[in-house]
Formats: sequence, C-alpha cells, structure tokens
Amino acid sequence: MKTIGVITSGGDAPGMNAVIRAVVRTAVASGLEVIGIERGFAGLIEQRYVHLNARSVSGIINRGGTILKTVRCAEIKSASGMKRAVDTLKEIGVDGLVIIGGDGSLAAGNALSKHGVNVVNIPASIDNDVYGTDETVGFDTALDTAVDAVDKIRDTATSHERIFIVEVMGREHGFLALSIGVAAGAEFVLIPEMRYDLSAICGKLKEARQRGKTSLVMIFAEGAGNPQEFASRITKRTGFETRVSALGYIQRGGTPTGRSRILASRFGTRAVELLLGGRKNRLVVVSRGRISDIPISTAIHNEKKLDLSFYRMAKELSK
Ligand code: F6P
Repeated sequence: MKTIGVITSGGDAPGMNAVIRAVVRTAVASGLEVIGIERGFAGLIEQRYVHLNARSVSGIINRGGTILKTVRCAEIKSASGMKRAVDTLKEIGVDGLVIIGGDGSLAAGNALSKHGVNVVNIPASIDNDVYGTDETVGFDTALDTAVDAVDKIRDTATSHERIFIVEVMGREHGFLALSIGVAAGAEFVLIPEMRYDLSAICGKLKEARQRGKTSLVMIFAEGAGNPQEFASRITKRTGFETRVSALGYIQRGGTPTGRSRILASRFGTRAVELLLGGRKNRLVVVSRGRISDIPISTAIHNEKKLDLSFYRMAKELSK
C-alpha cells in the first residue's frame, strides 16, 4: 500500500471535511501518498483529482460541505462508467480507496470491490440510514440544525395558535425526522416507514386543542407524502389554521457539531488503519460507542430498521 485515494459521494453531510482531514493526516503519518478524487465518482470517470498533503487539509475540520465536491453520479452504475473508474484508479496508482458517503456510495464501493479495488467505506449522510452503524457522519449536526429551526417555528405556532407541518429530509427513511420530533417535542411525527390515519390524527388534534394545547407541530419526513395536501386535508376536517414550512437544504449545511467532527475523525483514522492492515471491502461503523467494521456486502444486503420503542416513546411523550 503506497497510495490511497479519498472520495466524497452522494449528498454532502457536515463532517465530511473532518473525515478527509483524518484520512489524509493518518495516511501521511504512515508514509502514504494521498490522492483526492474530485466531484465524487464523476471525478474518477473524468480523471479529476488532486494530490493532498497534511497542509492541504488545514482549517477544514470546522467547515460544512466537502472540499473535494460531490455529485450524484448515475454513470458509475453503468459497465462503461465502472470500467473507466477502475482504469483511472490503476492509471494514477491508487492501491486503496476510502469512500465517504451514504447508501449510494456503499453500492458503488461494493461494485468497485468486485472489480478488484481495495475499498473502505465511511458512512456519512444526514439521513443516518446506513445499516450496521448507530450513527453516520453529519446526522448529529443536521439534527441540531433542524431542532433549532423547529424551536423557532414553535414560537409562531404558539403565538398564532396554528398547526405547523415542518417538512424535513428523509426520502426513504424517518431516522432523522423521528429524532427531530423527539428533540423538538413535536406532537406528531410522520415518516415513510409508518402509515398514518388522517381521521385519527384530526381527532387527536381536536382533542389536544380541547386540552389546552395552543401550538401543534408535526414533523413530516419528505418521503411521507405531500405536506401541502396533508395540510389542506387537516384544515378541511378540523377548521384549524395550518401552515407548511419546509426546512430543505439548511439541514445539509453548516458547521459540524463537535460530535460529528469526533465521529468523522475516528472513522477516517480507522479507514486508513484498515487499508494499512490489508483489510479491504469493509464499512467502518460505530456501535455502542465503539468503532469497528463490517463487510460492505453485509451492509448492502441488509436494511437499517427503525427502533420501534423509540417511535412509541415519541408518541407517548407528545401527549
Ligand atoms: O443526503 C440525503 C438526502 O438529504 C435525502 O434525505 C434527500 O431526499 C436527498 O438527500 C436530496 O438530495 P439531492 O437533492 O441532493 O439529491
């Protein structure tokens, strides 16, 4: 192992830069060369890369986004795209590749490993939906950003005695939405994993008003449906003034929290240690506070499940 590559892929997540920094500094300290692939897997296809040293990653631990840039690259899924990526890695002499990203990046890592590339994946995504790890890099930051926003929306909800439907990210999973709901004390959390019953919700909203609740905040994961439609149906049935507020991309940006930075640093360090130890095609994970690793194929073939007791607790506490 003489040269390693590092790449960020898929949606950006706060703390990706802290991972890059940890990867580069650990690798350099062990005498390795580091090449940063730019623009995700598109950079492997287009041959866009930079040589990185310990100084190239100065002053980035506190920056959101990714200095290497990222794209959602459909071409890597094609046989020709994959071939060009593998050829580039051979041409530039990359002996091991650290891939920082979410579940899409895992699929690409798995495919690359089948073509003989030594891969280590690091889970980084605000969605926290990667199998095998309790937490992904960026999740904690996105959670804090969203909770801060919902707290502010709550002020208007209380002052105007309105219902607010706050749309948060999570196209396929509700891990982020559920955590936001618990931390912001939301009255309802709607997520893709759980079907909802509109008349039951409307009944509870009326009942809550009768019990003296002035503000009602509902966290609505984007994968749970159309929030505008949902809002008008609520107004039609209850007569309550209802507003939708979509938090959008503010959830993906911003200064990473200390927790995101520490996780990023631990993941990045472990990824390089794995490659140096000849261990490949692994996903670095954290479980009960301990960093370990599992085969990429295990993560690909399993789905992270929602903690139902956490969901029930959220419901219980929202009364
Ligand atoms: O980063 C994951 C995620 O935030 C999802 O929750 C969301 O659906 C998706 O990215 C949207 O990202 P983009 O618009 O960049 O494709």
